[in-house]
Amino acid sequence: MTMSTEHPVIAVRDITKIYGEGDTQVRALRGINLDIAVGEYVAIMGASGSGKSTLMHIIGCLDVPTGGRYLLDGLDVSKLDDFALSVVRNRKIGFVFQSFNLIPRTSAFSNVELPMVYANVPKAERQERALAALEKVGLGNRGDAFPNQLSGGQQQRVAIARAIATNPAMILADEPTGALDSTSTGEVLELFEGLNHEGRTVIVITHEPDVAERAGRLIRLRDGLVVEDTGHPSGASVGAVAAAAAAAHIAPAGPGLSAAGLPRSSGRDGQ
Ligand SMILES: Nc1ncnc2c1ncn2[C@@H]1O[C@H](COP(=O)(O)OP(=O)(O)OP(=O)(O)O)[C@@H](O)[C@H]1O
Ligand SMILES: [Mg+2]
Repeated sequence: MTMSTEHPVIAVRDITKIYGEGDTQVRALRGINLDIAVGEYVAIMGASGSGKSTLMHIIGCLDVPTGGRYLLDGLDVSKLDDFALSVVRNRKIGFVFQSFNLIPRTSAFSNVELPMVYANVPKAERQERALAALEKVGLGNRGDAFPNQLSGGQQQRVAIARAIATNPAMILADEPTGALDSTSTGEVLELFEGLNHEGRTVIVITHEPDVAERAGRLIRLRDGLVVEDTGHPSGASVGAVAAAAAAAHIAPAGPGLSAAGLPRSSGRDGQ
């Protein structure tokens, strides 16, 4: 792998996204250009409806743009079919959502293990990885608990464990602290910082300025356009360059891993 400065992990070129047709048409993204380097920690802010989640869905290969080009690790994902997209997504990306998206009446441990079940990771290995991920988020002793027996912050930490059990190079989080109190918010942010220091690229959508402040770079959207970008891939990341080499050694998880809480083929709904 080349150094991050020559090789943005995310290269977005004139991306547009139009939902619907005719009178009901919504131009959610109107020409986005971005480079994000391996190991950057990026916050995305902007008013409700400015296109943040739409952009994240495209970056995360959950949806495809209407126009423009998106290169993920140099690969033009607009040329991939649904299956190939799901493979890329599941190998490289861990998702975290505001509402946790845990499966109810299913233990924390099983929630973390499930994506690896879909991926046919052998039982002993997936149990080891699920436990390690739960320990990493400080919940090694709560694996038996059901989601409704855990606090919001703990549920989000289970969701983070699920996202990282597959060892993704990139974490995408859509308002991950939106439903949390300040203590839990702090815990989640600490976890993200740790993941970033390991060399993982972290992208967090947030409405909270103090959450955004923890990132090395702020991108602000308005009406489907980037109106502010404090960073440049060659300069502005937290621990990124030092960690870039380490990132190159983050082994991809096996093919076909299901993205956290997402059905494997959910990718292109809503176009
Ligand atoms: N599946 C969809 N079908 C039609 N329009 C959509 C769809 N998803 C989003 N939109 C529209 O696209 C625009 C951008 O939505 P998006 O969800 O990306 O905003 P956001 O910045 O994430 O907002 P919020 O902060 O409220 O989550 C909005 O006008 C929204 O109504
Ligand atoms: Mg949103």
